[in-house]
This record gives sequence, C-alpha cells and structure tokens, in this order.
Amino acid sequence: MSNRRPSSARWLEEHRNDPYVAAARRDGYRSRAAYKLLEIDASVAARNVGKGLFRIGDTVVELGAAPGGWTQVAARRVGDQGRVVAVDLLPMDPIPGALVLCGDFLDDAILEQLRAGFGPSGQADVLLSDMAPNMTGVRVADQGRGSLLVEAALDFAFAVLRPGGRVVLKMFQGPDFHDLVRMARLRFTHVKVEKPPASRDRSAELYLIGTGFRADPVASHEDLLD
Ligand SMILES: C[S@@+](CC[C@H](N)C(=O)[O-])C[C@H]1O[C@@H](n2cnc3c(N)ncnc32)[C@H](O)[C@@H]1O
Repeated sequence: MSNRRPSSARWLEEHRNDPYVAAARRDGYRSRAAYKLLEIDASVAARNVGKGLFRIGDTVVELGAAPGGWTQVAARRVGDQGRVVAVDLLPMDPIPGALVLCGDFLDDAILEQLRAGFGPSGQADVLLSDMAPNMTGVRVADQGRGSLLVEAALDFAFAVLRPGGRVVLKMFQGPDFHDLVRMARLRFTHVKVEKPPASRDRSAELYLIGTGFRADPVASHEDLLD
C-alpha cells in the first residue's frame, strides 16, 4: 500500500496506467503487492531447481498483511492442508485458509496469538514480512522505525522457523541495513537482497530473502568463508 494520498493526481494517473493494478483486478488479488511475492517466489524457484518459497501443507506466518494480496498468494500455495497466520495493525477482510489477527506485531500478546495459530508444533516453515512504518517524512526517525520492525521480524523468524525454513522481509536502506543482512547470513544458508520488478522504482524498499534456516547459527562471518 502506498502512503501517498490517493487524492493526488499523480498517484491516480500512475494507478490507472499500472499493469500490476490491472493484473490484480484480473487475477482477483486484493493488492498489486501480490506480484512482488509471486516474483520473489519465482526467483527463488529459478535458483533452487524449481522449489520456491512454499510447499503444500506449510505453515506460513505473515507480518503486515493488509489488505491481503500476499496472504492470498500464500494461502493458495500451501493449499487446504497448510495454514497461514497473518497480522496487521489494520483490520482485514477474511481470506479462506488464513487466520487473520488485528494488532501490533511488536505487542507480546499478539506474538503469543500468532504462535498459538501455528498449531501444536509452535513452528513455521515460512515467515513473510511486508511491514512498513507510517512515514513521518523525518528521515532519521523513519529509518529507525523501519529498522526496528525488520530486526523484530528477523528475531521472530529465528525463534519460530523450522530448520530449512524460508523468510522474505521488506527492508529499507539505512545505517542498519548491512548489519541486518549480516545477522541473516549467520542463520540462513542462502541470503539474497532483491527488488522485484513489481516494486516501484521510487520506493526505497528492498526484500531480504533467506532460505535454508539453520537451527544452530554459524558462530561468525569468518566461518561462512570455510
Ligand atoms: C505494504 S502494506 C502490506 C501489503 C500486503 N503485503 C499486501 O499484499 O496486501 C504494509 C502493512 O504493514 C502494516 N504494519 C506496519 N507496522 C506494523 C506493525 N507493527 N504490526 C502489524 N502490522 C504493521 C501496515 O498497517 C500496512 O498495512
């Protein structure tokens, strides 16, 4: 979702001419953002002999889900035997195959509810985060809030993913960017940072994609060179 006021003429013009908006309408997705996840999934599959982010029966946890384009993609991919547990600050219409919570991911009570949604194992196969803070326009403050969300999402991924699990995290360039990528490299066999074609050029967002979650972290970055 854009923080731009929908009343702005430029936003309306861009929206009208956007092929992803047309595709979302055609394919029944709630947001054009769905195509970012589909493109990331295709790029993972291209590197991984056809295996993308999702498997039938997976448990997926999703942070910052409204209005629900990514949730729809995930629910379709994991099928009836899978489960998707999604949270957003904003209320979201139900999506078949998904448990949707309304609240702040940084709130401990919401974390507990998310984990309860995973079922008896308390573990997930995939963690998705497309969370974006409400931008104030004050660069340092916005970067700080963005990094806080990414770090909290990464910590949660480390706590709940099964070995071999996958993560997709929206990030923004800022002073903590490289440290966060380094943290991810200690816990995932493969880490890439990508900007999918559906992400608008003027958006500073990038996506960290981690596959092959390790239950035991690599002790240091030097070990990764062995
Ligand atoms: C870009 S939108 C997500 C779009 C979504 N991936 C889709 O496909 O429709 C980012 C969302 O992050 C949510 N968000 C930001 N901070 C959050 C927080 N602390 N807890 C839960 N959701 C949050 C916002 O409310 C917003 O709806």
